[in-house]
Amino acid sequence: MKRINQYQFDANQLTIHWEDGQQSQLAAIWLRDHCQMPDSRDPVSGQRLLNITDFPLDLTITNVIQTDDLIVIDFKPEHRSEFAIDWLIENCYCINSQADDRSESYKILWQKKSFEANILKHSYPNFCNLPEAKIAALQSVKDYGFAILSDVPCEEGEILKVIAEFGFVRQTNYGPLFEVRTTVNANNLAFTNLGLGCHLDNPYRDPVPGIQLLHCLQSSTAGGESILQDGFMAARLLREENPQHFDTLSQQWINYRFQDADTDLQARVPMLEVNDKKEIVKVRYNNRSITTLKLPSDKVTAFYAAYRHYAEILERKELQITFKLAPGELMLFDNTRVMHARTAFSDVGTRHLQGAYSDLDGLYSSLSVLKSQLLASQNAQ
Ligand code: OGA
Ligand code: ZN
Repeated sequence: MKRINQYQFDANQLTIHWEDGQQSQLAAIWLRDHCQMPDSRDPVSGQRLLNITDFPLDLTITNVIQTDDLIVIDFKPEHRSEFAIDWLIENCYCINSQADDRSESYKILWQKKSFEANILKHSYPNFCNLPEAKIAALQSVKDYGFAILSDVPCEEGEILKVIAEFGFVRQTNYGPLFEVRTTVNANNLAFTNLGLGCHLDNPYRDPVPGIQLLHCLQSSTAGGESILQDGFMAARLLREENPQHFDTLSQQWINYRFQDADTDLQARVPMLEVNDKKEIVKVRYNNRSITTLKLPSDKVTAFYAAYRHYAEILERKELQITFKLAPGELMLFDNTRVMHARTAFSDVGTRHLQGAYSDLDGLYSSLSVLKSQLLASQNAQ
């Protein structure tokens, strides 16, 4: 564990010099607000009992002492807080500044050549029965934005059981699940045999479902291959090739819409969403559901140049992986990052997929809990 070399404080700040040369600067108000004592935090739930208005902005530190594994701080107005040194290491911004595991800097960005060796398929029976196997597949969704499961029983509705293994179904106007096969008078081009360009589903929904699943039940048509591509990688390339274009797509909000007889879903959102560090956290791209572009007249030309540039990057074959889903295979992907597409397919034979949505926060939560449980069981052995 990291150890403290020395520390100093004044009324407004505690500075810790760690043995490895790192430094933590902790403001008095931040320390008071993050007090872990039972009068500040409920010992059972860990939830904060205090409101920010319960202490003044100009509160001060009056004394600091260090014991073996604690830092004890006295404040004015009078209050004493004890912080475990481990807690400070984990929570101090100077040491762990990244708190956004949805952002590009927490991901492994990829392109076609990243999977030269073969795309790993995760066995679904193992996924259900072995915590390590489930962790590996969910970690792949977190890191790469997708995972492919094999040996998923070819039964209608099985996709909902897959979701129950890591989270909750996100019902939509398409139902708990939807059928992807050729239909007459389809309300969505996905339900025809046309090819679909790279897209993310449902950008017209607020919030967008964070996870999409497609489970192949039948596939005997020519064509109908699946394509996946890392929308974060494409956005990063856009930023490298033209930072102005990147800024345009992250700053200009646009409208997406889906309409049929029973539905009228609308959202005004940016195509590329960045966090407070200007890192990519979400992309929304779907040429079928961008509705009337309501843009100030002086922004139209710049928007189209940026939009077209991003679309052109998305068409680069070296960024896309292509494979044909076989019956019993299911792909699960981060619908805020990894785009999917399919090639057109013949009307001879049958292609039948079932699709469904879930949410990313539930998947991340399951992954975190599974990892802690695995660690605890390994430590107990
Ligand atoms: C969809 C879709 C792809 C496919 O239903 O959202 O994009 O492979 N389908 O049919
Ligand atoms: Zn789709």
